[in-house]
Amino acid sequence: MTTLEILTMLVWLAASVTFIIALKFLASPKTARTGNLLGAAGMALIVLWTFFTHDATDPTATPGMFGNWWIIVVGGVVGGAIGWFAAKRVAMTAMPQMVAIFNGAGGGAAALVAVVEFLRDTETNPGELLPLAFIVATLLGAIIGSVSLTGSIVAWGKLQGFVASRPVSYPGSQIVSGILVVALIALGVYVAAIEPSVPLFLLFVVLALVLGVQLTMPIGGADMPVVISLLNSYTGIAVAATGFVLSNYALLIAGTLVGASGAILTQLMCRAMNRSLFNVLFAGFGTGGGEMAAGAAGEEQLREISADDAAVLMAYGKRVVIVPGYGMAVAQAQGPVRELMDLLLSKGVDVQFAIHPVAGRMPGHMNVLLAEANVPYDRLKEMDEINDDFADTDVALVIGANDVVNPLAREEGSPISGMPILNVDQAQNVIVLKRGRGTGFAGIPNPLFSNERTKMLFGDAKPSVEQLVAGVKQA
Ligand code: TAP
Repeated sequence: MTTLEILTMLVWLAASVTFIIALKFLASPKTARTGNLLGAAGMALIVLWTFFTHDATDPTATPGMFGNWWIIVVGGVVGGAIGWFAAKRVAMTAMPQMVAIFNGAGGGAAALVAVVEFLRDTETNPGELLPLAFIVATLLGAIIGSVSLTGSIVAWGKLQGFVASRPVSYPGSQIVSGILVVALIALGVYVAAIEPSVPLFLLFVVLALVLGVQLTMPIGGADMPVVISLLNSYTGIAVAATGFVLSNYALLIAGTLVGASGAILTQLMCRAMNRSLFNVLFAGFGTGGGEMAAGAAGEEQLREISADDAAVLMAYGKRVVIVPGYGMAVAQAQGPVRELMDLLLSKGVDVQFAIHPVAGRMPGHMNVLLAEANVPYDRLKEMDEINDDFADTDVALVIGANDVVNPLAREEGSPISGMPILNVDQAQNVIVLKRGRGTGFAGIPNPLFSNERTKMLFGDAKPSVEQLVAGVKQA
């Protein structure tokens, strides 16, 4: 090994360590920002090291392909600028789309590397079969990266409203997917074991791109966060395969970490919703029956409360637990919510936030919004931590949450049966802020709203919370 190769290994090792520490830090909102910076620093180190040493470390590098350093610089500057501005400008509610598109770019990059490596190797050794491990990794990088690219574009389109959010399917869709998979396997085997044909390899990539669309279109828009997390995991695997192809251990480790964490996150989300991954991918959940269920909910007798009365109830209580949900994100009510918390605390009321793992539409949705409004982390309580305390709570203030507080989850036969929920109905008083009688993601009625302890404060959550703030000030 030359000194440069040893140094390269050490740089890869150091960067890989930053990725692992970064993941650890990302597990808590307190340290997440540092974790993000640390991981980015590790990646920047690898990119710069590779940029300045690549020709020297890769004996096969040809000036035509790798000597065009200015392309890398221009690509880096343009891509970096787009990423920077997009991340700066994105609304918190549009974060899942942003993750989808970044993820798709990662998958696409992995697929492109696989294509370039295949073309380069077949050009260097025309007609010769490529080493088995190499071709298997290349094919995996190409197929998984391509599925991730087009799947993420569809997911982004559904969330952004460019593609129908409902499950889009057609008769025989599953059969078409099956045929695509069989064709991909056949092409892969042919290219790996019979003849490394460039046109067939390119056909393989095109079919994989089609498969990504085919698999994602039948899934409803509201299930996209789970799908994005799954595609994220795919991208990780594609990147790991790319690391194998390029003999780049840092890429291999980074890809494996992304693949594993994406898979764990997908599993955690499914478990928190009490749904199997199969159900998410193939059942079109939460997309039908919403209107019918809303009609059923509309027949219930609901008790209303004025903002002033609700404010008095909270201001003279000992303990208030705020339960944020998707509606708080839609209304962007987190700023006034923080103000409400400060006011209540100043009046000696104990205020905590109950965070359900799948409240909102993406993992950590509520944590991110509340952190944005500078709500201290120690006021945020996980479901298991706070669920036993609701019975000692004077007021549970539900802000735009529905499914995560729906007692139907405790009964057999509803779409959310078995989903763990926040025990809001055990609080002395429950005040629910929502606009009307709309259902949640699951599209089913919620008996909490007609419970005798519950009072409804109808309206968009932001002005409603602002009215509560005004009421508490006067109380
Ligand atoms: P949801 O059950 O979706 O309920 C949100 C409620 O907010 C609705 O009932 C709606 O009623 C109300 N709302 C909407 N806009 C509002 C506004 N501007 N002001 C006030 N209220 C507003 O929310 P949740 O309780 O947070 O549950 C999340 C659901 O999403 C769960 O079913 C979960 O399984 C699913 N899900 C979550 C994730 C992740 S990772 N978080 C991923 C996929 C699916 P009105 O229309 O009457 O106002």
